[in-house]
Amino acid sequence: MNYHTFENFSALTEALSQQWLTIIETTPDGSSFALAGGSTPAPIYQRLDELLANSGTKNPVKLVATDERWVSDADQQSNEGLFRRCLHTSALNKSWKLVSLKNASSSPEVATDAIDDRLQIQLPRPFSAVLLGMGADGHIASLFPGAPTQHDHLTCLAAVHPQTRQSRMSLSLPRLLSTERIWLVITGAEKRQVLDNAFNGDLPVAALLREASCTIDVFWCP
Ligand code: 6PG
Repeated sequence: MNYHTFENFSALTEALSQQWLTIIETTPDGSSFALAGGSTPAPIYQRLDELLANSGTKNPVKLVATDERWVSDADQQSNEGLFRRCLHTSALNKSWKLVSLKNASSSPEVATDAIDDRLQIQLPRPFSAVLLGMGADGHIASLFPGAPTQHDHLTCLAAVHPQTRQSRMSLSLPRLLSTERIWLVITGAEKRQVLDNAFNGDLPVAALLREASCTIDVFWCP
């Protein structure tokens, strides 16, 4: 695990966005990324959008959420809605395609097989990068403490947020780990301490640290 420490979130955003753009620009046959939702990463997506629009690259990019709340796209809680709002300029250049974790099913439990089929067809190879956040409880994506990190051999699984009871669809831990690189974006002392103390524990982030075959780059600021 490599820590990259920044004095503030705008410096973190600039460094990660530039690294991200380089991957896109140097992957002409197409790159793919799994993106975290939540409140932290939006400025990174917005900055990438600016860089992508100005770079003129037409290299194809595929995106998928690491997890999605089972709400309508218009709902402020929707991660895919967040990505569409943040990446609206580059979308105009048709430089990215969003593979949705949702369908019209009434619940993630009902949708799991269909979404797994979609992911297997549209995202068959390891991701170029997975951008993860982390909750103060050590959850990643919608893999929560004490809950399963996978369902059979599917690439996704239904989950429920332990506090809000919100239905979620999450990529499984094995699918998240099938990537060339992992970027873990966290802020503040509390999350840093959770991460520093995690390795031998049973939190979802601990499983990520132990099972990752690629380097995990932690982007952190106070
Ligand atoms: C989500 C995210 C989730 C998030 C963490 C941290 O859908 O909420 O994918 O895993 O990364 O909960 O969220 P914050 O960045 O808001 O602290």
